[in-house]
Amino acid sequence: MSNTTGMFVLSARILHWLMAVLILAMLFIGIGMVASVSERHEWLIHIHKPLGIAILILAVLRLAIRLRNPAPPLPADLPWLQKLAAHASHWLLYGLMIAMPLIGWAMLSAGGYPVMLSDSLRLPPIFPTNAIAFAILRQLHTVLAMLLFLTFLAHMAAALYHGLIRRDGVLSSMTHRRKP
Ligand code: HEM
Repeated sequence: MSNTTGMFVLSARILHWLMAVLILAMLFIGIGMVASVSERHEWLIHIHKPLGIAILILAVLRLAIRLRNPAPPLPADLPWLQKLAAHASHWLLYGLMIAMPLIGWAMLSAGGYPVMLSDSLRLPPIFPTNAIAFAILRQLHTVLAMLLFLTFLAHMAAALYHGLIRRDGVLSSMTHRRKP
């Protein structure tokens, strides 16, 4: 099954832009959180956990939509290395969107902390309590957050390159239908 419309399906486009905003917000909330020792830390962490779980649910939904609806093909004249980088970075982004929330959840479980989404909604632990595992997962959460931020920046730079320099329809495949 191939995509001949030159566009991503509407549900994929809506999720793409919604998640771009949510993930960028999450990265800054996370950094603000670890940099705060005031009551702002508590406030930010109360946003961070439910938003992270919402991102997990949306990322799984988005992956299912993506697997059912092939992406429009990249321009035939795009150098193979750029095609490879595009595909690799897209799958890396999917992996990180799913791994980051799971690692956050697993890390709190390993630390023996309750994962509260609201005052009354508590998620079950997904990892046995273990101090060493907590330390490793905590570190992994930081390193992968940096990788996510770098991949996000590279992705934005590539989108601008396609939209402003090559003008080859790659950016508009995620925004609007181009006039013929
Ligand atoms: C896309 C999802 C997520 C992103 C992008 C993200 C991002 C971040 C970032 C950037 C930090 C700061 C890292 C550092 O500087 O050390 C952080 C810390 C943290 N995150 Fe996440 N996170 C996500 C999901 C989650 C989830 C689902 C949970 C828990 C259910 C969680 C729990 C935490 C905790 C407990 C901290 C450390 C707070 C502290 O030490 O004060 N994260 N996260």
